[in-house]
Amino acid sequence: MSELHITPLHACLGAEIAGIDLSKPIDEATRQALSRALAEHLALVFHDQSLTPPQYLAAAAAFGPPMEQHYSQHNMPDHPLIGLIWHRNGQQPAERWHTDHTNRERPPAATILYGVDIPSSGGGTSVASMRAAYVALPEQERRRMEQLTTLNSLDSGRTDTRREDQEKYGRSIAHPMVRTHPVHGSRAVYFHISKVTHIEGMTPEASRAYMSDLLDRMIRPEIVYHHAWRKGDVLVIDNRATMHRAHGDYDRQQSRVLWRIIVEGDRPRLV
Ligand SMILES: [Fe+2]
Repeated sequence: MSELHITPLHACLGAEIAGIDLSKPIDEATRQALSRALAEHLALVFHDQSLTPPQYLAAAAAFGPPMEQHYSQHNMPDHPLIGLIWHRNGQQPAERWHTDHTNRERPPAATILYGVDIPSSGGGTSVASMRAAYVALPEQERRRMEQLTTLNSLDSGRTDTRREDQEKYGRSIAHPMVRTHPVHGSRAVYFHISKVTHIEGMTPEASRAYMSDLLDRMIRPEIVYHHAWRKGDVLVIDNRATMHRAHGDYDRQQSRVLWRIIVEGDRPRLV
């Protein structure tokens, strides 16, 4: 087993993992230690990695089987399980708080990002603990949210979605608005505002207004880890108990390329 050195990066979430070269095979004991670390810290950072696409896919599999990403026009042609986050190809930075791919019956347990091209300043990624957000809400609101179900589909308002992706991933999927972490057992607020068509029993407008108000109230600096990228960083985000966002505050003359892998998770449930 690799001897992992785990150093928390923030009082609420995030930890740096040293002592592992992700280009090498990961044994079972190390895989389990990484899975526990992710459930506890919710965002893991590995610095100074140097990975080919196959090595990156093999390392990501320590957190679960890589799964297809639904905006397939952005996938790496030779390795379609890797998505390219590259704003120069017309993508907009995902600057609103969200968790990934909630329109899937079993949304990804984790999103993994590898820093390939990093601008000289700005362009970071922030991660917020939805476990801490849930705990901080008034008890009455927590009880109310535990009764709510979101209906999820592909993002509304995108014009570049391929028809095959729309057909495969556009159907309505129901999830609880509060979910229990399958490894950690804690509860977290769970939704993606632009993938929710509505909350059951509410109009789309009222649903969006409620989620927007929730984001305004929940996201505070105390529950946010901000990752300032260095080339060669791997950032693993636990999608079951966090939201994240990109920052578009960098010089667009500079290139910012991240390789993204998402890995299979459980069907969200509240227990
Ligand atoms: Fe995302």
